[in-house]
Amino acid sequence: MGGSARAFGVPLAGPGHGRRAALRAAEAELSRYFEESLELLWSADQTGRLVRVNPAWKRCLGHPAEAMRGRSLTEFIHEQDRDAAAAEILSLADGSRDSITVCSRFQTLEGGSLWLEWSARSSPVDGRIHGSAHDISSQRRAEQQLSSEARGLEAMVDDRTRDLEEARAETLQLLAIAGEFRDDETSQHTERVGTMSAEIGKHMGLSAESLVLLREAAPLHDIGKLAIPDRVLLKPGRLSPEEQEMMQTHTTLGARLLFGSRSPALQLAGVIAESHHEWWDGSGYPQGLIGSDIPLVGRIVTVADVFDALTHDRPYKSAWPVDQAMALIRSTAGSQFDPKVVEAFLSIGGRRAEGRPPGGPAATGSREGDAREDPSAGEAAAAEEPIRHAVQGLSEPG
Ligand SMILES: [Fe+2]
Repeated sequence: MGGSARAFGVPLAGPGHGRRAALRAAEAELSRYFEESLELLWSADQTGRLVRVNPAWKRCLGHPAEAMRGRSLTEFIHEQDRDAAAAEILSLADGSRDSITVCSRFQTLEGGSLWLEWSARSSPVDGRIHGSAHDISSQRRAEQQLSSEARGLEAMVDDRTRDLEEARAETLQLLAIAGEFRDDETSQHTERVGTMSAEIGKHMGLSAESLVLLREAAPLHDIGKLAIPDRVLLKPGRLSPEEQEMMQTHTTLGARLLFGSRSPALQLAGVIAESHHEWWDGSGYPQGLIGSDIPLVGRIVTVADVFDALTHDRPYKSAWPVDQAMALIRSTAGSQFDPKVVEAFLSIGGRRAEGRPPGGPAATGSREGDAREDPSAGEAAAAEEPIRHAVQGLSEPG
């Protein structure tokens, strides 16, 4: 490099001597940097064929400089990254880009591969492509390890979330069974009410998310019975007016219990507990709400609750035939029940009720005041104003 001036016969003494000496020194410094640099430096022609590589390539990949010169840079790139790299180099050669920065896997002499981040630009001075590269394999491994660990953590969180969800659903189910345990040995009434309520809700156009909540919340409609004394709850005969009144407090007691939770399912269950004995015509309890003032979920659950109570044996009554129970519900649409809910119920109720044991009519309805003998017993006993429609999405569809 430095000998070129003398070779062309240019005298070293004279006015230009200082400038040439400085040029030689700069060339020497550049050459030393090229030889000793830890960066992998390279130059190529416009086709990407290497014309110069520094020793760092050999230290990094094992390929001697003489084995690389004259070959395309892309020959040393992993075949899966080769086409992308070739396209990048082409963009320099055709002038569509001034510079490029690429991450590619390069093949080592021993048959392995290393990740290199490499940059290049096309020089307007000599028409060549000049570039540099450095090993980022450790960084890539660390990134991949972090990514793998993140995926592992994500899977673990998913597992734990699923466990919690199952535990939560099981707790709700057990809570519903506990509320029913003393007056229904089978403990299946609450589950059936939940299932039928969701089917009615589906027929009425509730969203899938709302149906899941309704399915979970409906079985808790009678949770307030936990606070009703045995002498009233389990009394075999007809309840006195005072006992009837006490029985009816299971609505507000249940709501007070459930509204203490922040869980959407339990908040909704509170709405249902408080409203599942309201009547469409306003003669229900505890608040005597009328028509659409009664939360939709309460209007749905009351149909499912009464139908299931009618069509199954209880200690104080035998199961009604399905047809008779459906006829009763149809006849009370507009008085006890929301006509639209009854319409939805009738379209699915027969299917759900298939397989019920035959039985003759006995005492009507349940002993909680669903029975028509005492529609006036409701009183607003709630100590607190309930949170109406606490759960979004469970409003009247359409
Ligand atoms: Fe009830």
